[in-house]
Amino acid sequence: MGVRTRILLTFVVGAMVLSGVLFFLTYTLTRSNLRVREGELGLSDDLINETLGSVRASLILATIITVLVGLMLGIVSSERVVRPLAGAADAARAIADGRLDTRLEPTDDPDLNALTDAFNDMVARLQERVERDARFASDVSHELRSPLMTLAASVEVMLSRRDELTERSQAALDLLVADVARFSGLVEDLLEISRYDAGAVRLNRDTLRASELVEQSVRASSLPRSPVHIDPRCADATLSGDRRRLARVVANLIDNARSHGGGSAAVAVSPAEDSASHVWISVEDAGEGVVEGDSERIFERFSRGVGASKRGASEGAGLGLALVREHVRLHGGRVWVERRRDGASGARFVVELPCESLN
Ligand SMILES: Nc1ncnc2c1ncn2[C@@H]1O[C@H](COP(=O)(O)OP(=O)(O)OP(=O)(O)O)[C@@H](O)[C@H]1O
Ligand SMILES: [Mg+2]
Repeated sequence: MGVRTRILLTFVVGAMVLSGVLFFLTYTLTRSNLRVREGELGLSDDLINETLGSVRASLILATIITVLVGLMLGIVSSERVVRPLAGAADAARAIADGRLDTRLEPTDDPDLNALTDAFNDMVARLQERVERDARFASDVSHELRSPLMTLAASVEVMLSRRDELTERSQAALDLLVADVARFSGLVEDLLEISRYDAGAVRLNRDTLRASELVEQSVRASSLPRSPVHIDPRCADATLSGDRRRLARVVANLIDNARSHGGGSAAVAVSPAEDSASHVWISVEDAGEGVVEGDSERIFERFSRGVGASKRGASEGAGLGLALVREHVRLHGGRVWVERRRDGASGARFVVELPCESLN
């Protein structure tokens, strides 16, 4: 039973008990008084019964009114008690959604203020901690950036003289090149994520043709020859977006098709099925697809999905899809993974973005 019902019942039962006792006492006292003074005042039986009848009717009416007043007081009081709890629940939901600056308003009730103060204090500490962690990731990435750049530049110099090296040294250099590239990518991803955490991401918005953006992004990706299908209705569709970040979204999805999805990708731009003002950019592959139950988790940070561990894929930190989701969200869109529509094995990642000029 909820708090509200319990308070309501307490008031109603209290009013019923109180009026019941008053009813009983008033009625029995009046009756015994009338009986005692019956002879003295010369009252007839009919008159006594009539008087008792009126007293009973008045008492029943008073009982009903008392119970109704109890009910109303119960409703008002339960609302007053529950309102701050509902406020605290809303605040907790807002905090869980990432709005860490949410606080409860102080009230004029000293009992509730203890709860409000404790709650606000807890949120302030949580905010401080989250910000400190975000700063830590950002500081570490910044610190790693300059030695990595030196390393990358030195590797470039060695690469230009690759032919002069022995075969073993060439193999070692190739490993080094791949690892430096992977590490630089990871540091860049970490920096980008920490910018999101700090709320410091500002989109450089341009008006972009969806078809052009997707074709260019595919050509610059790790599978540049992937087929791109543009639905004729989207030929002139434009979107307001950050070119670099949206290209990164497509590139990350294609990278995943390459490393987790069997090595080939097919990209399509089509109108959203359930909205006339959104466009879908989908990337399909012919791999094993995403394991049932992983489709939400793979968008979390450092989450590599059971599929990756099964395949023994060692590369990748699990940041790619987390960044895709952040980029897409900042553009007012959403991203998800589903099965391929044609029933073949493979994953289909869909990015939905607001757009204009759909035919
Ligand atoms: N096309 C795909 N097919 C099957 N599984 C996929 C596909 N794309 C992503 N996944 C799963 O989702 C996980 C998370 O992907 P995400 O891009 O975030 O990380 P990653 O590719 O492992 O590493 P990173 O992108 O940081 O280099 C992958 O490890 C993989 O298990
Ligand atoms: Mg990836």
